[in-house]
Amino acid sequence: MRARRTQNFPRAVGGCVHDKPVSDMRVIQGGSEHCDILSTLHGTGFSKPWGSEEFAALLGQPGVAAWISESNEPSGFILVRAAADEAEILTLAVIPEQRKIGIGALLLKTACEALSAAGTKQIFLEVSVKNTAAITLYQKSGFARRGMRTAYYGGGKDSEPVDAIIMAKVL
Ligand SMILES: CC(C)(COP(=O)(O)OP(=O)(O)OC[C@H]1O[C@@H](n2cnc3c(N)ncnc32)[C@H](O)[C@@H]1OP(=O)(O)O)[C@@H](O)C(=O)NCCC(=O)NCCS
Repeated sequence: MRARRTQNFPRAVGGCVHDKPVSDMRVIQGGSEHCDILSTLHGTGFSKPWGSEEFAALLGQPGVAAWISESNEPSGFILVRAAADEAEILTLAVIPEQRKIGIGALLLKTACEALSAAGTKQIFLEVSVKNTAAITLYQKSGFARRGMRTAYYGGGKDSEPVDAIIMAKVL
């Protein structure tokens, strides 16, 4: 895990608060000022972290939006891209010490509600067939399996390619 997680970020406008299931957790809209935090959070969930400049580039694209959960410190985030009346989840992660208390579900709910309010009708994602935690989270959040992408992930020197499941939810 990368070390820098104590940085505070502004209480953003446009965020929303959910009372359950994690009552002390706020979810705020992420912006260009949060790229370092987003990169650090991403590094806690994936072996190839995206740099803050990658987040800056993504957040500069039309339709791309992020939400960050925080209580005393940032605990997770979701990044989505909307186009016309569809959207895709680009990435989602919760820091290891705060997993399994409902933050992933809260981030998904926040993104889906905001996207729906902005006119998105359906949201898609790809998830590794090996990622049981994420698949279960998505299923419990109302996503259904729509197809497969063979050898979608990896396939480097030291790893075999891994298939992805395509999932979707009608909002
Ligand atoms: C996947 C991830 C975002 C889940 O976040 P989370 O905050 O732990 O998820 P939640 O606490 O909201 O869990 C919601 C449901 O998902 C399922 N779930 C979560 N973690 C699970 C696990 N390790 N094993 C099995 N099911 C799990 C449970 O059904 C859970 O509901 P329950 O606690 O009522 O049983 C988190 O594990 C993570 O950041 N993983 C690394 C990055 C990643 O894989 N991102 C997804 C890429 S597609």
